[in-house]
Amino acid sequence: MSEEEENIEIARMGHPVLMGVAKEVIDIQSKEVQEVIDDMITAHLQQGGVGIAAPQIFIPLRIVIVQVTPLCALSNGIPETPMMILINPVMEVLDESKQVDWEGCLSVPGMYGEVPRATKVSYTAYDREGHAVKGVLEGYIARILQHEMDHINGVLYPMRVEDLKRFGYLDEVREFLLG
Ligand code: NI
Repeated sequence: MSEEEENIEIARMGHPVLMGVAKEVIDIQSKEVQEVIDDMITAHLQQGGVGIAAPQIFIPLRIVIVQVTPLCALSNGIPETPMMILINPVMEVLDESKQVDWEGCLSVPGMYGEVPRATKVSYTAYDREGHAVKGVLEGYIARILQHEMDHINGVLYPMRVEDLKRFGYLDEVREFLLG
């Protein structure tokens, strides 16, 4: 079966792989780790979300992908961003003020919830070649990184929803809560 045709299974809320603290990657250049990254990219592009974390494909390692895909950019009216592959990421909140916005998750299919997140964060990590990378993120992309960091620490966004009246099925949320 070719890479493109292979449908990569996504872990859903309730599976223990999503509830643990993922392990640091020791050998970034290893064939195993590079294959995990390839599978994450494939799954990310197949699902058309804004990010993915390794535990979501049943691999408890500290690897995340963050990207506003062109499709997502179009449907949400936000700028698309290049794909960031972050290994062993460490994040720091630069601006404690929080904003609420709606989030979904591949591991919580069909649901949508309003989550408070910090507006500005910085990160350090390694790319898939093993080079140190760092940056500062603001706005929606900062939100995505916080969501993915949560994944590698065993936290799913419904655990961060403060007003459960602002959590529900996507079609109902679209009809009654958005706009
Ligand atoms: Ni998620």
